[in-house]
Amino acid sequence: MRYVYLVVFFVVVLAVGALGFRGSISTRPPLEVFPDMDRQSKFHPQVPTSFFADGRTDRPIPAGTVARGDLRADSHLYAGRNAAGDFASGFPTDLEIDRQFIDRGRERYEIYCTPCHGSLGNGRGIVTNYGWGGPANLHADLIRNQPEGEIYNTITNGKNTMFSLGDKIVPEDRWAIVAYVRALQRSQNGRIEDVPASHKGELN
Ligand code: HEC
Repeated sequence: MRYVYLVVFFVVVLAVGALGFRGSISTRPPLEVFPDMDRQSKFHPQVPTSFFADGRTDRPIPAGTVARGDLRADSHLYAGRNAAGDFASGFPTDLEIDRQFIDRGRERYEIYCTPCHGSLGNGRGIVTNYGWGGPANLHADLIRNQPEGEIYNTITNGKNTMFSLGDKIVPEDRWAIVAYVRALQRSQNGRIEDVPASHKGELN
């Protein structure tokens, strides 16, 4: 007999639980049997605190922190400079200078450099149509004789009225552009010795 009461009790609890408060609205907070992580003691971003001496909840990155894979120890690759701190000649050894690399450089050059230096690199990009004569002619002896690292540095940090592009072009692509600039310079200053012997007969 006792079980009948128990069954009735559970049926009532279930019915009230499932249907009883349907549609009713309450402004009171819900009962929290298990609060889980509803309320945590934590700092919200950019709010003041008296916990740290400088009063900021946002903590500065400890000095010398390097993001994984971002050590940039190769100064030739990342700064265009050799061990002595001078502009490095030649390309970083990690890079393979092949047709694909130069094609990549051409693509990047046409995006980032052509408006000012022109697709030939002669400094007659479209900006010069609007009265600005500033962009350098990349075929000038000055630039032809510069070490590769110096051109890399110009791209990275800019020079005089040329703004820096270091925040827009990753280091490998800057080197690809340098390789393409060298190819452009060769194209405008070709010598008979540059022509492979097998093709010399085609010249007239
Ligand atoms: C907004 C226009 C502009 C863009 C874009 C630009 N340059 Fe320049 N660049 C200049 C100007 C102007 C100068 C001359 C600066 C000066 O007065 O010495 C210059 C100078 C240079 C020089 C010669 C620096 C020297 O040692 O005298 C090189 C090399 C060069 N640019 C390469 C590039 C390359 C490569 C790119 C593309 C990644 C590029 N520039 C993009 C405007 C530009």
